[in-house]
Amino acid sequence: MDNLVSNIKEVTSKKSGVIRLTLTDFRNYAFLRVCPHLGPVIITGENGCGKTNILEAISFLTPGRGLRNAKLADIRRFTPAIINQDYAPQNGGWGIFASVAKNGEEIEIGTAVEKINRDSYDDGTHLSDRRIVKINGQKGASQNELGQYLSAIWLTPQMDRLFRGGSQPRRNFLDRLVYAFDNEHAKRTSNFEHLYKQWYQIIKGSNGHIDNNWLLTLEENMAAIGVAIAAARREQIARLNRFIKNTPDDIFPNVELTLSGIIEEQLDLLPAIDVEDNYRNLLKKQRNNVLSNINIDGVNRSDFKVFYKKKKMPAEMCSTGEQKSLLISIILAQTKCQILNQGFAPILLLDEITAHLDDAKRDALLAKIRELDLQAFITATDVDLFSTFKNYAQFWEVKNNTVYLR
Ligand SMILES: Nc1ncnc2c1ncn2[C@@H]1O[C@H](COP(=O)(O)OP(=O)(O)O)[C@@H](O)[C@H]1O
Ligand SMILES: [Mg+2]
Repeated sequence: MDNLVSNIKEVTSKKSGVIRLTLTDFRNYAFLRVCPHLGPVIITGENGCGKTNILEAISFLTPGRGLRNAKLADIRRFTPAIINQDYAPQNGGWGIFASVAKNGEEIEIGTAVEKINRDSYDDGTHLSDRRIVKINGQKGASQNELGQYLSAIWLTPQMDRLFRGGSQPRRNFLDRLVYAFDNEHAKRTSNFEHLYKQWYQIIKGSNGHIDNNWLLTLEENMAAIGVAIAAARREQIARLNRFIKNTPDDIFPNVELTLSGIIEEQLDLLPAIDVEDNYRNLLKKQRNNVLSNINIDGVNRSDFKVFYKKKKMPAEMCSTGEQKSLLISIILAQTKCQILNQGFAPILLLDEITAHLDDAKRDALLAKIRELDLQAFITATDVDLFSTFKNYAQFWEVKNNTVYLR
């Protein structure tokens, strides 16, 4: 245990995180530049002033669609002039650029969305959004590459319903946990989604003539990528369970994670190559399900469950506050695993974290953040709840689309 603490300290003392952040036309910010320190930052301000938007901007510096899972087109700053038109102006994009420290070394990263004409003969009224990634001034990097320089783990009020609702958000949550350990996973999940859509549309548009070589090729690719997705998810669940078992937290509850999914489960019993064959056959068999609107099974339906060990209770049956504590347990374990595995600290993005946590749990969480000694952006409406962070955290107040240091 002491060894673990000193290993973590050795990494976090080298300091990682965002040291300068510049937003242009992002959500409510026409232009914003802030220089956070590499510790906790408490962001307060009235409802709707733009606190969560700052966390969302930082989350866009990692692979994926950010902590709101937003459509690119919704992010560009709306102004009354734009809202009153039914098309966006030329080149109406947005950008997020940052100087990032990774163990003391400085790197420039950024992501932006440009409006492009889809067709060269287009008259400009049918523009589409294209996301670009820049690393040290070089355009054309992939989103995956961002993960080498910055990693973020978030907890948002939407996640209060994570255990009770449909499986999609849980799958997304799990896949994000995998990204940090497996650089290819983000690409895999987006490729799979893309292939799945294509496969589905071809079958739907086939008028029942579903014997087609193109479908076979798609199924082959989906099975190969699908098995890799399932294997990476299993590995991550096993890693977290192992970590939690060996180093139980003293305050946040011990959890056990289980993964369910027809492909994941086969990997317990069969070599991957056989699971891939089975998956390909399963997809072929399910072509008819698409035509009859029956659910398609596979890695697109996998799910994971969380158990509150001491209570022997599945998370979805626990109180809202308990569920939040269970999530915090997972996130703290993930954070420590990442620090030890990646060799640099992730940033924590904690949105309205004090809701549903009693005073003792809130202070315990703040103590953990202090112990981990990493960068964390924490939004709140009541600054007084953070008195233990006085002289330790930076305090920002958001007002009139700008940030003021308190
Ligand atoms: N694309 C956009 N353009 C301009 N304003 C936006 C856009 N998207 C969201 N907003 C505004 O951002 C505000 C919400 O910001 P948010 O960060 O969620 O607030 P909070 O401080 O409560 O976390 C709302 O006032 C909303 O109208
Ligand atoms: Mg908010």
